[in-house]
Amino acid sequence: MRFQVTPSKVQDASVTVPGDKSVSHRALMLGSIAEGRTDVSGFLAGEDCLATLGAMKALGVEIAQPSATEMSIEGVGLHGLQGTQAELDLGNSGTAMRLMAGLLSGQPFSSVLTGDASLSGRPMSRIIKPLTMMGAAIESDCDGTPPLQISGGLKLRGIHYDLPMASAQVKSAILLAGLYASGTTSVREPAVTRDHTERMFALMGVAVNSVDGTITLEGGQQPQGCNVRVPADLSSASFVMLAALLAEKADIQILNVGVNPTRTGVIDILQAMGADISLLNPQLLGEEPVADIRVRSSRLHGGPVDPALVSLAIDEFPVLFVAAAAADGSTTFSGIGELRVKESDRISAMANGMQTLGIRVDETDDGAIVHGGHFTGGTVQSYADHRVAMSLAVAGTVASDEVFVDDVESVDTSFPGFCDLMAALGADISVAGDR
Ligand code: S3P
Repeated sequence: MRFQVTPSKVQDASVTVPGDKSVSHRALMLGSIAEGRTDVSGFLAGEDCLATLGAMKALGVEIAQPSATEMSIEGVGLHGLQGTQAELDLGNSGTAMRLMAGLLSGQPFSSVLTGDASLSGRPMSRIIKPLTMMGAAIESDCDGTPPLQISGGLKLRGIHYDLPMASAQVKSAILLAGLYASGTTSVREPAVTRDHTERMFALMGVAVNSVDGTITLEGGQQPQGCNVRVPADLSSASFVMLAALLAEKADIQILNVGVNPTRTGVIDILQAMGADISLLNPQLLGEEPVADIRVRSSRLHGGPVDPALVSLAIDEFPVLFVAAAAADGSTTFSGIGELRVKESDRISAMANGMQTLGIRVDETDDGAIVHGGHFTGGTVQSYADHRVAMSLAVAGTVASDEVFVDDVESVDTSFPGFCDLMAALGADISVAGDR
């Protein structure tokens, strides 16, 4: 499947984007090992989270789905998961695989985790190393990639671990294993990363301490079932924000979006580029801050992007590359080497796509310089990466001619209904069959 994007007139609108992917995964995993029921609303029914749902059901957890966005999880308690002979297929989801590896390392049964072609190429040594230090036994392919074979019946012990890279997935894998470990587990992060695991622990009554970049947890704590209201996903909202910013004259509100400060780097970076973005009606949904985001079309300008904001905007660089291409002057991105090991090598994928559409991009090892210009029409590859596909599609709304984005099935991993939602803004992005 591919997107066909026609230059469009994006107009005023008020929209709601689907639920937060990170929070949805965590609600399923923690709700499953909680004591008592966890009711989840605003759940993201995207393929990544549905893979986690399938895995938790395969591990013996009863999960009812009153609607696509509601889950009712009958928690089995910390020691209630049941082993399965079946491989747990986690599709395209790095979050599912890394967090599940942490959760499953301390179980009495063994497990096998697999994924699609993209996930099967992603680095897992980053979790295998600390989990092994805790006493787990995990085998991967020789280059540290999936499938993962996790041995059961081993006793875990708490460790202190200095994360070599800023990664919420690795941090969360260690903290989940820490629940099953004896003693204290602590993780020090080199830069602040999303703290949804810590917040959901707090919501479920698990004491977790976060001081000066070190997160500490005592093993053996039993999470308690509760109601989880999932905010709309800021990462999905970013595509709408981008469409609004690039448009000639649009004023768009995106309702009830998660604005956890460990996620809002994209807003800070866009504002530094001159974007007119404001947060309205701030509230708390459980432990997670949300707000309505108002975005008005803006003239953007380039400049150096603050590397201190990278871990707070880690999924939004495809969007930011497109913003930089539409800005006056050049924008320098540095310290974003982690993008090379996401669902695709996002630095190269975006550089290739934007170059095809007439934008000059100079790639560096850990970044890129994007020179502002105008998008032409053309056919670009998404490298089967949802965020690359959606970013290039939004670029197409302000291109001088039609843009085709190939291989866009992956969009359903995080943003089901993307084309319909963009249509509500006036953006003409339709799904066409392969050429
Ligand atoms: C996620 C953490 C991030 C992010 C991913 C979701 C999470 O990955 O890119 O989309 O839910 O913990 P890293 O922590 O590996 O950077």
